[in-house]
Amino acid sequence: MRDRLEKKLNLYERHSSNGKCARRRTEVWAHRGASGYAPENTLPAFQLAMEMGADGIELDVQLTKDGEIVVLHDERIDRTSNGKGNVSDFTLAELKKFNFNKYYPEQFGDVQIPTLRDVYALIKDTGMIVDVELKSTAKTSHIWDNLSKSPELEILPTKLIELADDCDICNQIVYSSFDVEALTQIKKLRADAYVGYLTEHAISVQTPAYCRMKRFDAVNPKYIALHRNGFVKACELLDVDINAWTVNAALDMRRAFEIGIHAVITNYPDIAVHLRNSI
Ligand code: G3P
Ligand code: CA
Repeated sequence: MRDRLEKKLNLYERHSSNGKCARRRTEVWAHRGASGYAPENTLPAFQLAMEMGADGIELDVQLTKDGEIVVLHDERIDRTSNGKGNVSDFTLAELKKFNFNKYYPEQFGDVQIPTLRDVYALIKDTGMIVDVELKSTAKTSHIWDNLSKSPELEILPTKLIELADDCDICNQIVYSSFDVEALTQIKKLRADAYVGYLTEHAISVQTPAYCRMKRFDAVNPKYIALHRNGFVKACELLDVDINAWTVNAALDMRRAFEIGIHAVITNYPDIAVHLRNSI
């Protein structure tokens, strides 16, 4: 992640007329790219997010049969491609033969599945953030810590750290997951990696303290958590960033900007950027 101090300074770059610091400038991260307008988790969706002025992109990663890191939300390829089956049953070369643009044929034509390396090559020079979500079958809170882990969860964090090093893009990367074990592995491998703990229902005022205890930098909650005042305040007190998803309605975006959370993750980065800049 960007240098921590630089980040903290940037957060307070908005100043009121009397010179005092006002709310922080919330970043806009495009969820699966600009997925409201382009095939999710593909290079055209990431390119579009860039053109729309997003500060970052969010994406999901899975491992192929031959151990390549590809960008895909589901464990199966059926929903987003013209193929059928588990991503882990195909090699990268086999996956590249499918068309991963099922919903926008006229605008974008045939689109291949990207590797994470492809995305890093596209993003690196822009300085944008890449929020890499490690997918897991255990979408759970810390109470599941001790449940069995798939081998994927041991291999994937190592491969991710190696790839970021190789692409020289470490300070632009956020790692996120619903799986605490996967995030713990990332922190073990690289203590200064920026890690966000994804939560859906298991949010409480204790969650920020839990993140501190685990040395996670952020909590990435479903946007409804922003309506829990105690939760937002506890995050501020403990210096735990909030990166909320999936903030698609203007009303929710406005709330996030007014609170001044660290980032909103949205399918509509153009709307979010416009709204944020006009507040
Ligand atoms: O980053 C948060 C969000 O992407 C988690 O949900 O299902 O869209 O991956 P999902
Ligand atoms: Ca995701």
